[in-house]
Amino acid sequence: MLFDSHAHIDDERFDADRDEVIARALENGVTGIINIGACMASSERSIKLTERYDCVYAAVGNHPHDAKDVQDGDYDKLSEWLGMPKVVALGEIGLDYHYDLSPREQQQKIFIRQLDVARQMRMPVIIHDRESHADILKILKTEGKGLTGVLHCFSGSLEMAQEVLKMGFYISIAGPVTFKNAAKLPDIAAAVPLERLLLETDCPYLTPHPYRGQRNEPAYVRIVAERVAELRKMELENLAHATTDNVRRLFSI
Ligand code: NI
Repeated sequence: MLFDSHAHIDDERFDADRDEVIARALENGVTGIINIGACMASSERSIKLTERYDCVYAAVGNHPHDAKDVQDGDYDKLSEWLGMPKVVALGEIGLDYHYDLSPREQQQKIFIRQLDVARQMRMPVIIHDRESHADILKILKTEGKGLTGVLHCFSGSLEMAQEVLKMGFYISIAGPVTFKNAAKLPDIAAAVPLERLLLETDCPYLTPHPYRGQRNEPAYVRIVAERVAELRKMELENLAHATTDNVRRLFSI
């Protein structure tokens, strides 16, 4: 019983075999998938997927890459979508200083506005943080009051993990924990309190070892789970159960 807490199966790389991908996920014990919006169009596609597949839930939001394209009316649209029964979070939102596809000031502004929407709608947030750890922490401390959510595909330090845990956030571990050059991530995956840990694929990206380089898919959340169970010296079944309970609690599923 696993849950892929972060997937992008609306991606065109799944257009040819989406039904098979979902079937393989179910065969591998994946009981649920949250499909994540990254812009208004993919958020809408995310909602459509929840209508087609029982096991799929949606998050809606604008990724920092797309911050430059966000329009004033989009915030109302997000609020409206967040009222739908299978829309479970606002995300993914945050900062990306690796690609810098939108100006940093714009990324910060859009991030803060979307945190406001989440607070008004009493919904959890899904946070993307790439090479922007200090600003993410700063903004969550000043603008994140009363919010909960998850730092997805966590890539910060153990100290940062402890800070966001203290603020009530969850930590989600993705495929990089299986990489040979995983550095500090295995230690963090072992240290996060079990009741605050989520697992994800972020498919079609971040494919775990030994499939690295190929397309990722929700069934591979099992590989992430196996590695994290090994690191935590616990049974896969117990880890799967606990992390699935966490997803259901955080996102009220
Ligand atoms: Ni993502």
